[in-house]
Amino acid sequence: HENKDLKGKNILITAGPTREDIDPVRFITNRSTGKMGYAIAKAARDRGANVTLITGPTNINPPSFIDVVNVYSAEDMYKAVEERYDSCDVLIMSAAVADYRPKVKSDVKIKKSDDDLKIELTRNKDILFELKERKRNQVVIGFAAETNDLLENAIKKINKKNLDYIVANDVTMKDSGFGTETNTVKIIDKFGNITDYPNLPKEEVAHHILDLLVK
Ligand code: PMT
Repeated sequence: HENKDLKGKNILITAGPTREDIDPVRFITNRSTGKMGYAIAKAARDRGANVTLITGPTNINPPSFIDVVNVYSAEDMYKAVEERYDSCDVLIMSAAVADYRPKVKSDVKIKKSDDDLKIELTRNKDILFELKERKRNQVVIGFAAETNDLLENAIKKINKKNLDYIVANDVTMKDSGFGTETNTVKIIDKFGNITDYPNLPKEEVAHHILDLLVK
């Protein structure tokens, strides 16, 4: 990238899913592949930023020449982000963090019986919500993956989590959201201004998100 317009900025980016263990062989997760977050990390690196990528388990290779922190569960991701938050200039949370985890993790493989099995879930911390009291000069960008009432739900999240921007993706759209090479997003700022983007490769969506930091 010819333009190093993010030179010197410390950017913390999260990507991928988290895994919430049920027992030693089973877990709860979601369809995130990490592609969106890794594309942001690569684009930010190319524009001169110091990038730290905190990633849940994925099958893709992270970009080179950045710091990579591998995490497993939502709790691990919370700790990794929390430790680095005060010294970052920008936090971009594109990870799909599990909202719930099994209330107890069995130490042994759960045996089947003839009965139904109930797994009780308990809330994970909401990372963005937990950090909102500690916000100083950071620019904080969240994502919203929605299947319905996209704008309404995304706007609620901006307010509740005190974000500067939210990148809303309607994950029911074709070639958009989880696992795809492209994404169709709307970026909403904290004043409620909405910018619509066409379906674009995740790399291009990434550059549009980073453009928010230089205007
Ligand atoms: O990884 P890909 O396959 O490329 O897919 C990309 C994506 C669809 C995962 C990505 O574009 C996306 O939308 N990421 C956010 C998915 C999500 O979990 O959204 P949410 O609406 O549940 O969460 C809202 C925001 O709060 C997100 O920024 C999320 O990171 C954050 N959050 C959520 C839960 C939690 N416990 N703590 C959080 O901070």
